[in-house]
Amino acid sequence: MSEIICELNNVNFTYRGTDKGVKDINLVVSAGQCVGLLGESGCGKSTLAKCISGQQKGVLGDIKCGKIGYIFQDAYSSLNPSKKVGWLLKEVIRYNNKSELSRADELIKKIIEETELDMSVLEHYPNELSGGQRQRIAIACALLSNPDILIADEPVSALDVTVQKQIVTLLKKLNLKKNLAILFISHDIKVVKELCDYIYILKDGVIVEEGDAKSIFENAKSEYTAALLDSSYLVK
Ligand SMILES: Nc1ncnc2c1ncn2[C@@H]1O[C@H](COP(=O)(O)OP(=O)(O)O)[C@@H](O)[C@H]1O
Ligand SMILES: [Mg+2]
Repeated sequence: MSEIICELNNVNFTYRGTDKGVKDINLVVSAGQCVGLLGESGCGKSTLAKCISGQQKGVLGDIKCGKIGYIFQDAYSSLNPSKKVGWLLKEVIRYNNKSELSRADELIKKIIEETELDMSVLEHYPNELSGGQRQRIAIACALLSNPDILIADEPVSALDVTVQKQIVTLLKKLNLKKNLAILFISHDIKVVKELCDYIYILKDGVIVEEGDAKSIFENAKSEYTAALLDSSYLVK
């Protein structure tokens, strides 16, 4: 058995005064695994991600999770627009790992290579770059904090299809090369299918189905999963 990086047992959370939230969530991400959390918009995916990363108060149940690197749908909002990319990356090292500051240039060069960017991006402001480049920089920032797990919440949903594919390919490479655990959150079954080994299906805050990617796609047990599969094939 590989090491468990993130484990949720009976996690419950409800937004105060509503019936919205997540219910009885049990979920495991092991070392080197790329786990998908799939469900339609509004089903509670981001809520669960926020519960895991400690951004939500009043969460019940048991959450054990290693250090998280977080990636959002909109990289632009997570990157300070008034600073050049080189400064932003260095700031991540300064914040997370001051002892490494003396070799910041070396670390940044390595992370730029790993995220398949060009060193010239360091001299640019986030708004001077493409959406795909910005998402690569957000990934670079997350990696520079030395995470045990990447939680990527709809990281490609704002990108056009060609760029989506490039970012998904990059995440898969990082997953395999660095044995990096990933929790990949998406409403898009096609993207999840490309990337994930194991999948949880979320509906109205509840996990309605889970399993190896292959079994989910070949033999969906719940009607909801079957419907998700159907609609994605229709819009193909
Ligand atoms: N701060 C909040 N207060 C009350 N309800 C919320 C809040 N944030 C999200 N919700 C509701 O919780 C449900 C799940 O939202 P969310 O986790 O963002 O879904 P997803 O990420 O799957 O699209 C939705 O019905 C949403 O309207
Ligand atoms: Mg969301």
